Amino acid sequence: MHYAPDTEDCPLPFSPFKSCTVPRPIGWLSTVSRDGVHNLAPYSQWQNLTFDPPMVMFAANQHPDGRRKDTVINAEETGWFVWNMATYALRDAVNISAMELAPEEDEFERAGVERAPCIDAPGARVAQSPCHFECKYLSTHRLPGNSPAGTIDVVYGQVMRIHVADDVILPSGKIDIPRIQPLARMGYYDYARITETFEMRIPSASSATEDGLEGKPTTPTTNKET
Ligand SMILES: Cc1cc2nc3c(=O)[nH]c(=O)nc-3n(C[C@H](O)[C@H](O)[C@H](O)COP(=O)(O)O)c2cc1C
Repeated sequence: MHYAPDTEDCPLPFSPFKSCTVPRPIGWLSTVSRDGVHNLAPYSQWQNLTFDPPMVMFAANQHPDGRRKDTVINAEETGWFVWNMATYALRDAVNISAMELAPEEDEFERAGVERAPCIDAPGARVAQSPCHFECKYLSTHRLPGNSPAGTIDVVYGQVMRIHVADDVILPSGKIDIPRIQPLARMGYYDYARITETFEMRIPSASSATEDGLEGKPTTPTTNKET
């Protein structure tokens, strides 16, 4: 089957679009409002963009009445947002944090997770999550959709600090992903968890390509020769 979503009705009872873009990592994002209220929400329209420097993005749909999401407003107003890795063990808290609560309600408390302090960003990290990025807000790109809810704020940020819990770091220095079991968003009401990984290397890749793929750290700007 095929169809043109802009001009033809979907021939299936559920749109296949989101179910084709799987698995999506979850941007479980914490922010704080100008008034100091802690906010937490999952965003599966979330990705890394590049690694030198590390940059990320998330896309927030507007509410049907045209209001913008609190995460976007807080990131713009404070200049920061924080990514927390969503795990299978934390799935219920991730789900509860998606509830549309009034901006004055503390979503860490509602989701039943503890706050850990950030180093650079205002606001907090989810203490139970094993990995965090403190992200400096860069810009918002607004893309109009066919409806208020289809209209998105694409928010870009630069990762200024990376936290990884010591107990998920293997002797090799790599992260123990099967132990963490990151949560991924699928289509419909479905989720997946990563329980196993496997390796593949590009044949005859250049050493620069190998370094990028394996994740060799880049030189910080302050150490680069001018
Ligand atoms: C797993 C999951 C992924 C979600 N991904 C998105 C997303 O990518 N964009 C979005 O606008 N809303 C997404 N939502 C809905 C938001 O989490 C929800 O609207 C939330 O209340 C927004 O909170 P905020 O206004 O505090 O930012 C998602 C919900 C769940 C459960």
